[in-house]
Amino acid sequence: MSRIASKVVLITGASSGLGLATAQRLHALSHRVYGASRSSAPGATYTTLRMDVDDDGAVQRGVDEILSREGRLDAVLNNAGIGFAGSIEDLTLAEARQQLETNFFGAVRVCRAVLPAMRRQGAGLIINVASIGAQIALPYQGHYTASKLALEGMSQSLRMEVRPFGIRVVVFAPGDFQTGFTEHRLRGRQTAKESAYALSFLRTLTVVERDERTGLNPERFARLVEHIVASRNPRPRYVIGPAFERLALAPKAVLPATWLEAGVRWYYRAG
Ligand SMILES: NC(=O)c1ccc[n+]([C@@H]2O[C@H](COP(=O)([O-])OP(=O)(O)OC[C@H]3O[C@@H](n4cnc5c(N)ncnc54)[C@H](OP(=O)(O)O)[C@@H]3O)[C@@H](O)[C@H]2O)c1
Repeated sequence: MSRIASKVVLITGASSGLGLATAQRLHALSHRVYGASRSSAPGATYTTLRMDVDDDGAVQRGVDEILSREGRLDAVLNNAGIGFAGSIEDLTLAEARQQLETNFFGAVRVCRAVLPAMRRQGAGLIINVASIGAQIALPYQGHYTASKLALEGMSQSLRMEVRPFGIRVVVFAPGDFQTGFTEHRLRGRQTAKESAYALSFLRTLTVVERDERTGLNPERFARLVEHIVASRNPRPRYVIGPAFERLALAPKAVLPATWLEAGVRWYYRAG
């Protein structure tokens, strides 16, 4: 029998990568884990919920199901996410909206669905998964960066609003991890060979994908979530990723923006 108090935890985007590793780990530690995604991972050990975070009804039904089974919901990991790659000129507005719909409005939807129960309980934990990339923008990831910056900003306001109800809001900013994100990445329909950005785009994407494929093991992320879920007083923000990515954040405070951008353009071979 585990010494850890068992908590009811909802994890969105649990069918792959960071969400899957976290769902399996928390389940193994005797938490009551509900893993939500559009598809389910084969052999999932936790309870799976079919939930598209883009869909109001699906999110509400999923949260209602957890509450009717468990009577409470202690923690939520807003982790579901997609990445559209392409230049701002090439990506269509529909693609930009899709990016924001899942990464930002999806998390907002889940927050709005779980907050009434958390307020009634007088306790709860919401962890929103942003990205180191929200602090240092990369070329050809503009709408992805926007979605994660929006999530960070919303989380800061939410944290102040819900603190009087005993609810904690935490932002996770991961760097590169080896997950399905690389193969799931969507490319804008107009990023084909005839794009004015084609060569630079492909060079940059090669570096981005190389770094993701050699990134950290998702188990490291899962261990940090385990720690936060057990913590009485979590910090507002956690950065987790390879050392060189965490260190790259430091010069931002002191270097002129043009120097930092020149460094990013050089590293990502954006020209
Ligand atoms: N890997 C990295 O290096 C990295 C770095 C920084 C931040 N992140 C963030 O970490 C989070 C997890 O990504 P990952 O790396 O684990 O990628 P992943 O392996 O591609 O997993 C993404 C998960 O999100 C789910 N998802 C996507 N759209 C969804 C929707 N509309 N409704 C419900 N679930 C949806 C996917 O499941 P279904 O397709 O089955 O729905 C999948 O389970 C994302 O928010 C990502 O932006 C990742």
